Amino acid sequence: MQLETGPFGLAVRDPALDQRIRKGLAEVEEVLRASARSDHPFIDETASHLVNAGGKRFRPLLTLVAAQFGDPAAPGVVPAAAVVELTHLATLYHDDVMDEAPVRRGAPSANARWDNSVAILTGDFLFARASQILADLGPEAVRLQAKTFERLVTGQINECIGPKDGQAAIDHYLSVLGDKTGSLIATSARFGALLSGASDQAVEVLTRFGEVFGMAFQLSDDVLDIASDREQSGKTPGTDLREGVPTLPTLYALESTDPESARLRQLLSGPIAEDELVDEVIAALRVHPALTQARETVTRYAAEARDLLAPLPDIAAKDTLLALCDVVTSRTV
Ligand code: IPE
Ligand code: IPE
Ligand code: MG
Ligand code: MG
Repeated sequence: MQLETGPFGLAVRDPALDQRIRKGLAEVEEVLRASARSDHPFIDETASHLVNAGGKRFRPLLTLVAAQFGDPAAPGVVPAAAVVELTHLATLYHDDVMDEAPVRRGAPSANARWDNSVAILTGDFLFARASQILADLGPEAVRLQAKTFERLVTGQINECIGPKDGQAAIDHYLSVLGDKTGSLIATSARFGALLSGASDQAVEVLTRFGEVFGMAFQLSDDVLDIASDREQSGKTPGTDLREGVPTLPTLYALESTDPESARLRQLLSGPIAEDELVDEVIAALRVHPALTQARETVTRYAAEARDLLAPLPDIAAKDTLLALCDVVTSRTV
């Protein structure tokens, strides 16, 4: 039976496609759980921690949808989908150390539950497991993953060091997003297209779609950091504010010039340690035009992603990709 909404709040209208995707995601889930298992009981516990905590499984979903443009049953598709989720998961272990985030996927982050060293090494363990799966997918897949990983790390480092001399803060920010998030989402789509044997054109279109969609996805995550509560996001709202990590709504607010926002701009000029101040800034941003402006930017990227799909054949999977663009826009409202 087809459920109303499936993974990522997405309704897949074609029942046969819905079935194929659900089956694929169930297989991915098995690979993920197996990949987090270790004979070492402590590693077994730390690596399974965030796999079991859930998550949207958006990246493997995208791999499976992209694979519909070739042979979705091709043997490399499910392993590749698991690789992108394992890579993502490993970066979350590391990111929560960098961001000192206490909560992830509704559970204590690994750094909060254990400590930074355990979180970093568990992330490395998951990268190692992803590499083992990749080895069986061939050198092109290994190279693609390595380049993606390079971009992802570059994005995280650039986020830490801030804009280059003369670079506008928002331009720097958008380039960070492309690298830290767009790269892996582009690769999630590319893997699905490549390993299913889709046409060269579909491979390129889906890769570009993933990159731009990934921007919309991360920008919507930034809006949610301000606009949502912990139950909705599974994370602690305002984590970026506490760390002084710029996000699109805060950068737009910093660019505002109205005198009423002077205190907000002053608070946003660095990390915010006190809980009351974080609450004050979240409340101010929730009603600030900067948040509306950020939502409009999400909508613009989602529309650009949608337009990129035009050259693809009109199969049910294309509708699903179009629907994803709607989901990413509507989740911020
Ligand atoms: C979180 O990614 C980090 C971002 C790049 C926004 P997700 O929002 O996909 O996190 P999970 O996998 O559902 O936990
Ligand atoms: C997530 O980045 C990690 C990567 C994309 C590598 P963020 O720090 O922006 O995302 P959340 O809000 O912690 O999920
Ligand atoms: Mg973070
Ligand atoms: Mg971060």
